[in-house]
Amino acid sequence: MELTESLIKAREERAEKYCKLVAKFPHLKSESVLSYLRASDYFTAPSSYKRHGAWIGGNFDHSVTVTELLLRFTEEEGLKWEREESPYIIGLFHDLCKNDQRGFKMKNDNLKIVSRECPDQRHGDRSVELIEENIIKLTEEEKECVLYHMGVYGGDEEYQQEMAKAMAQNPNIAFVQKADTIAARAGI
Ligand SMILES: [Fe+2]
Ligand SMILES: [Fe+2]
Repeated sequence: MELTESLIKAREERAEKYCKLVAKFPHLKSESVLSYLRASDYFTAPSSYKRHGAWIGGNFDHSVTVTELLLRFTEEEGLKWEREESPYIIGLFHDLCKNDQRGFKMKNDNLKIVSRECPDQRHGDRSVELIEENIIKLTEEEKECVLYHMGVYGGDEEYQQEMAKAMAQNPNIAFVQKADTIAARAGI
């Protein structure tokens, strides 16, 4: 299958899965949100070169796994969120900034992931900006969960201090970090 064909197939399969997942929240699957997600390669971008999610749609697959884990923790641990859709918004969009950081090309019949832009260590900040510009205004709780989802790997001393303060007020951040780590360690 040609690269373009594979990309279209992967995009449409994942767009359908996304619409089912957020079926209860029509504002997350409006025309404008879906056209942004399609155009920004949300359904086809990989997560990384070779660590986790290094395939067409890898970043979306990772995001769905994080969402499912967050929903499981919400149920099992009785987590409270400011709005029902928060675990969906955080899980599905915490790595939104990765959409345009990597692309694909074919080399000797093999799919190769190429870098378009060097990912920033503090990529949570960029995801918050993109979510608010293109999808939905975040609650403070959601914003903190996205900003600090990288945990101890997320940044410098200043970041760690801000994160510790936020985590003392917002216990859900720790569950987002846990979900992200479990998914990444499982290779997704
Ligand atoms: Fe991330
Ligand atoms: Fe992630």
